[in-house]
Amino acid sequence: MIESSPLYVAFEGGEGSGKSTQAMLLADRLGESAIRTIEPGGTDLGQKLREILLSPATGELDPMTEVYLMAADRAEHMRRIVTPQLAARRHVISDRSFGSSVAYQGAGRDLGAKRVLDVNLNNPSLVLPDMMLILEPPSDEELARRLNRDLDRFEGAGALFHKKVSDCFSKMADILASDDRTSGIKVITIASEAGGQPKSVDELNREIILEIEDFCDTREIPRPL
Ligand code: TYD
Repeated sequence: MIESSPLYVAFEGGEGSGKSTQAMLLADRLGESAIRTIEPGGTDLGQKLREILLSPATGELDPMTEVYLMAADRAEHMRRIVTPQLAARRHVISDRSFGSSVAYQGAGRDLGAKRVLDVNLNNPSLVLPDMMLILEPPSDEELARRLNRDLDRFEGAGALFHKKVSDCFSKMADILASDDRTSGIKVITIASEAGGQPKSVDELNREIILEIEDFCDTREIPRPL
């Protein structure tokens, strides 16, 4: 538990961006004062929805079905995890948030960002993250190396789908800033490479910590780290 207001930080990015590792490292570093959670799948019901959404056995879904199932997972996640944990003054470090719906369903499935935002923001219990940290995808070769395993429904969705998702993540700061309902979210994009080389896990972790410190200083809230 902490004295000051807790932070809700969402990690976002395409496949193989290393965001899950970074979410874990940050939560570990924050220790008892934070919880790490995921979308989809942060609750018991969410685990079942995750299985349906990711399993290749599900086959093709109507894009709006995907939006609503993700939004249903998120509604449970808000009620059972995010809201109570913030109320208990714990930082919430989330592996994905509604930003993934904007990118994957809005852009990847061609529904448009606004429609997907509207569905999500229509939930009166939606809590918006304070910060959205978007990890850029690695190079194509590095991605192929990291995805060397059985592919889930999204990973197997094809290059064009992933290009649209990735382009949308690059524009996320503008998309969220241009809507009054989401303009308060601090969106930060973390590049995957420096000087033509992929950044190490440690380098990414240091950069993320600096970004969080900077955010806290700007908002004049105590640094959590
Ligand atoms: P994740 O567990 O982060 O998978 P990975 O570590 O392989 O990136 O996310 C599961 C998948 O669900 C991922 O492909 C992105 C997708 N997704 C959406 O399409 N919409 C959403 O709203 C969310 C939260 C995830």
